[in-house]
Amino acid sequence: MKEWMGKIRTLSLFSFLVIILSACGKDNLTALVPKGYGAEESFNVILISILVMIFVFIVVMAIYVYVIFKFRQRKGQENHIPKQTEGNKTLEVVWTVIPILLLIIIAVPTIASTYDLADESEKEDSINVNVQGMQFWWNFEYANEEIQTSQELYIPVNERVYLNMLSSDVIHSFWLPSISGKMDVNPDNENTMYIEAYEEGVYWGKCTEFCGDSHSLMDFKVVVVSQEEYDQWVEGMKNTDPEYTAESSTAQEGQEMFANSCISCHAIDASSSNPVVGPNLADFGNRTMVAGIKNYSKEAIVDWIMNPGEIKPGNGMLSAPYLQDNSMEEEDAEKIADFLMELKATDEPVDSVEQFKKDETENNN
Ligand code: CUA
Repeated sequence: MKEWMGKIRTLSLFSFLVIILSACGKDNLTALVPKGYGAEESFNVILISILVMIFVFIVVMAIYVYVIFKFRQRKGQENHIPKQTEGNKTLEVVWTVIPILLLIIIAVPTIASTYDLADESEKEDSINVNVQGMQFWWNFEYANEEIQTSQELYIPVNERVYLNMLSSDVIHSFWLPSISGKMDVNPDNENTMYIEAYEEGVYWGKCTEFCGDSHSLMDFKVVVVSQEEYDQWVEGMKNTDPEYTAESSTAQEGQEMFANSCISCHAIDASSSNPVVGPNLADFGNRTMVAGIKNYSKEAIVDWIMNPGEIKPGNGMLSAPYLQDNSMEEEDAEKIADFLMELKATDEPVDSVEQFKKDETENNN
């Protein structure tokens, strides 16, 4: 009786875990619903491996159960020794050849995919983005377009985009499960990969190499848009102006404070010649999220300016002078937020971004 209780308890614990863990998934953050070339290739390899494993499991279990019943000890045969099969060549060959065949079934598509995903033959004619990982955010520099952005990588749908990845501090890892795989981002040797998305939308990416206090918060997004929207966005980014003048009066006051406190680390135009100190804030008004992790709203921006250390412990902004001497009032932060929300590369709303914001608000309500 006691033994059964223990089993039931273990079983209910596992079911509970399954229920909890199933809530962790997001449609745009899972390798199991591939929405891009690399993710699809990986998914097929996963599927083949699982099918082979299920086949092995069923066959082994069937033989196991059969043998238990067939050769069990029967009454009156306590001292019976069954026929020994040691040295049976046929058996030896069979159970050596079958695993080899199974491994070949897994290895052929795996190796093919590995080479395919490392293919750089189209690199020169494609969009090239230099990805820079930093504690705890991402910078994306479009090599040919000569623009840069942070946290949100825009790419056109059904186009191969090549990523050249380096870290400027510790080792990070770029993981974009719905579209492609995962790649280490090292401080000294450049790693490359390409991504190609099949559907417009906003896809979630994460850092998957422990890199410090806020490693688990080092999120980014890949915004997949139509070719037309992409061209508009690039054009808009090229035209972002370092001399931009805010429109509303509160934003103008905010801009003044921004010029005193923030501009030494954060550029407001996308020019790739801006030094990469803090995240580039060009097009900040069209961001999907604040700091990569908070739903986009004025409150979230104010909260970030006032308490960056609580939201992302250990981030670079903590050394900002206004946080050292507590010189920022909440109403100042509100004005800066007004200014930042005006910074837009395109006035046309981007479909994927609008949809993403709507979904996120619904999910959190
Ligand atoms: Cu960067 Cu973890």
